[in-house]
Amino acid sequence: MTEPLLSIRDLEVSYGAVQVLFGVNLEVHQGEIVSIIGPNGAGKSTVIKAVIGLVPAQRGSVVFDGLDITNSPAHVIPSLGVTYVPQGRIVFAQMTVADNLEMGAFLQRDPRKRREAVQAVFEQFPRLHERRHQPAGKLSGGEQQMLAIGRALMLNPRLVILDEPSLGLSPKYVDLIFDQLLALKSQGRTLLMVEQNAARALELSDRGYALELGHNRFTGSGADLLANPDVRRMYLGGA
Ligand SMILES: Nc1ncnc2c1ncn2[C@@H]1O[C@H](COP(=O)(O)OP(=O)(O)O)[C@@H](O)[C@H]1O
Ligand SMILES: [Mg+2]
Repeated sequence: MTEPLLSIRDLEVSYGAVQVLFGVNLEVHQGEIVSIIGPNGAGKSTVIKAVIGLVPAQRGSVVFDGLDITNSPAHVIPSLGVTYVPQGRIVFAQMTVADNLEMGAFLQRDPRKRREAVQAVFEQFPRLHERRHQPAGKLSGGEQQMLAIGRALMLNPRLVILDEPSLGLSPKYVDLIFDQLLALKSQGRTLLMVEQNAARALELSDRGYALELGHNRFTGSGADLLANPDVRRMYLGGA
């Protein structure tokens, strides 16, 4: 296999005196969708926060595209080609949809390229185009999640990291967001996501990592994890 695009090795993280990751390993290859699943508090968000410089790693390494980015400050990560969709559909509520997207291209100094990037997001999400002049705060939850994802695409990233993209959305929008993630993959994007909706996430994932209390518990293809009785019992409500 080729070198992974992202490689996390033996990652340990503490909040103050409390250690929450105890040597987590994870790889994402070019063109994959990879999911991190696990119960609340397992450390899923902490893994991705350590990758993007929001929490420091005590031990271990994060390598992106052959470059050691362990403990790189958060502000350099987007310029390396890694963007982040935080949990909770965080958008600038007072700003229009179009201006929210522009904010995602803060590193792009060429206004023509910024406009092209906005157009590309509008093609991906026609609903955002329809609502481009409205304040983002007026959008439904699902539309705000599309906007948050669209904003993360503005820099044409090599890896998009999403924290709980389906959380709190109505079933219709859960379907729509997962369909959009698959569409992004088919366009060659690489995605790493954290999802509490483990069954849905594994269905569309090339690989999954099930965490338990800051440790890797199960790793495998999405299909293998879905078929694994222990994974089903522990992570999928026994279904
Ligand atoms: N900012 C923080 N300060 C202290 N403890 C935290 C902080 N963020 C998360 N934790 C703790 O770290 C553990 C892992 O949290 P998190 O990575 O958010 O888990 P998950 O995303 O899997 O729900 C939990 O026990 C949580 O309470
Ligand atoms: Mg979380």
